[in-house]
Formats: sequence, C-alpha cells, structure tokens
Amino acid sequence: MADVKIRLALSSQEDAAFILAAFDSALPFLASIGSEAQWGSVPFSAKPDVVVSMTKDVQRSGDVSAQHQGGRLPLPAGWTRIFISLSASGTRTGALCLIAEPPSYVASLLPEGHQSLFMKFLITDRRTGVEAQGAGAALIARAMQEARDCGADSLYSDCWEGNGGRLVRFYEQQGFTAGAAFRVDGKHGPGLPWQGRVLCKQVR
Ligand SMILES: CC(C)(COP(=O)(O)OP(=O)(O)OC[C@H]1O[C@@H](n2cnc3c(N)ncnc32)[C@H](O)[C@@H]1OP(=O)(O)O)[C@@H](O)C(=O)NCCC(=O)NCCS
Repeated sequence: MADVKIRLALSSQEDAAFILAAFDSALPFLASIGSEAQWGSVPFSAKPDVVVSMTKDVQRSGDVSAQHQGGRLPLPAGWTRIFISLSASGTRTGALCLIAEPPSYVASLLPEGHQSLFMKFLITDRRTGVEAQGAGAALIARAMQEARDCGADSLYSDCWEGNGGRLVRFYEQQGFTAGAAFRVDGKHGPGLPWQGRVLCKQVR
C-alpha cells in the first residue's frame, strides 16, 4: 500500500493554486477516457468565478483549522475543511473538500434530518503520475474519520454519471452507494447539461 500522508490545507495561495492546477490536469485525462463532458475543456484556473470560490474555500478551511473547530454536528454554516494528500517525498498529490451543508442542487434529494458531511470535491493531480497512487482512497478514509469525529452517520457526495457511469463505479468501489439522479444544466459552463448521481457512504 502506498505511503500517503494527509494534512489540512493552509490558507495560502499555494494550496489554492495547487488544487486548481490539479483540476486543470484532470481535463486531458477526462478527454482521453471519453468523459470530456464531465467538466468541459476550459481550465478551472481560467475561470475567474472558480478561482475566487476555490480561494474562499481554502481560506475558510484554514480558518476552521486555526480555530480548532474540528467540531460536532450541527456545524456552523460555511464550515469547510480541505485535506491535501502528500506522497512519501512530500509532493502534493490530491485534495478533498468537506462542507457541512450540501449544495443546493442536491439538498432536496437527501433524507430529512440527515446527520452528515458532504464531500464537495475530490481530485488527484495527474501530473504526479504514480506518486498519486492511493491518494484518492486515503483522502476518502480521512474524510470518513472526520465525519465520524463530527458525529455524522453518513458522508454524502455527488458525481457525474455520464460515460456509462464509470465514475459512479469508482465511488461504489470505495464503499459509496449510488442514490438519486439529478440534472444541473450549465454546472460547468454554458450549454453543458450535467447529469449527476448522489452518493452516500455510511459512517461506521
Ligand atoms: C477520482 C480520483 C480522485 C480517484 O483517484 P485514485 O483513487 O488515485 O484512483 P485512480 O486515479 O487510479 O482512478 C481509479 C479508477 O477510476 C477511474 N476514474 C477516475 N476518475 C474518473 C472519471 N472522472 N471518470 C471515469 N473514470 C474515472 C480511473 O480511470 C481508474 O479506472 P481503472 O481502475 O479502470 O484504471 C482521480 O482519478 C481523479 O482525480 N479523477 C478525475 C477527477 C474526478 O473525476 N474527480 C471526482 C469528481 S466527483
């Protein structure tokens, strides 16, 4: 098993820039497997609103850490935690973002009174090649630990379900169960209809 270390993101420009670059690195990979429609072809780092929102998320995560708000549910609105994975040599290989409130496009699809955290994003940096091996699973394991520590009974996420549901299968292999389907037009750019699937992993 690969030696993966996980740390909290720092409220620094470097971590935000790294995460955006990791998203950018996914685009040629997605195109190569027939999944270009997942995120389109415009680099995330070239979308001003995405850069602003990522910078805010990293800042919020840093604030939560600085205040030692590991916290228990219910968590304050805006609670955000971002984890960064590192290879044995210390290279940043991936990132995962947890939030307390599910995004509006899936909120109505979750059971009433759910006690959960929501995974806003999970990404590995394709530029790091084999160094990123095991990063996705390790980040999910860290998120599960956080959910447990917060007193949550489940970890929710969502993903694109196009291209034959390949990404849904990845999450199923990681112990998630696929739930309701939904559609958000323009989620990643104008004219991109986006068909997604809610995902849930029970915290034990
Ligand atoms: C999803 C991800 C974090 C998993 O990282 P990982 O645990 O290190 O695993 P891998 O990168 O080896 O991917 C595992 C498998 O899922 C597949 N996969 C990964 N992302 C995929 C995607 N977006 N669509 C379809 N298949 C995908 C890989 O091709 C691989 O398949 P294989 O086992 O048949 O080779 C990483 O692959 C990634 O960043 N993917 C692109 C971005 C993405 O889709 N993130 C999730 C958004 S909800």
